[in-house]
Amino acid sequence: MKPQIQIPDTKAPQLSGAESHGPGKCLMSRRKFLLTSGVTTATVMVTMKIGTSLAEVPAVIATYPSKKIAKLSDLKTDKPLGFEYPDEGTYAESMIVKLGQQAGGGIGPEMDVVAFNYYCTHQGGDLTGTYKGDTKSLGACPLHLSTYDLTRHGILISGQAYQNLPQVLLELNGDDIYAVGVFGLIFGRYDNLQG
Ligand code: FES
Repeated sequence: MKPQIQIPDTKAPQLSGAESHGPGKCLMSRRKFLLTSGVTTATVMVTMKIGTSLAEVPAVIATYPSKKIAKLSDLKTDKPLGFEYPDEGTYAESMIVKLGQQAGGGIGPEMDVVAFNYYCTHQGGDLTGTYKGDTKSLGACPLHLSTYDLTRHGILISGQAYQNLPQVLLELNGDDIYAVGVFGLIFGRYDNLQG
């Protein structure tokens, strides 16, 4: 699977496009998809392989008031920590993990710290406890086996889903890690924030 992330200027003027990070990869740098501050949303089109053909699917980027979720010095490679974001409502459970290798949207000296929502985008299967350090993936989903690549913005590796796993955008301030937004729509929500 070789996804391409295309960002139309008319829909997301702050976002300047995809950035390649080597053969077979297509990653946006964190700065490319991180908007300014406050509650802001933009829709981007993500080209993904569905079955045997390519299709464009919409992805929503949203930023919210920041929330401190972890300390960089507390993170151990391949040991996820849980948190809730952007609120404490349904499907807010998420995880942060130090992958031990550079990843799309990664922060820290090695750009390897990423965070993702814990709910499968297919039908909301709970991915808690399914992190695999050898493949840097989340899954297989207990319902229909979807598995997501955490090094490449949560794209689907295999299974029934067709949307990326929502990635929690991170900022580092000293040793403190803050969640500041979500790339993708959280399962079961029309908007990532619940009122
Ligand atoms: S709910 Fe996860 S693959 Fe269907």
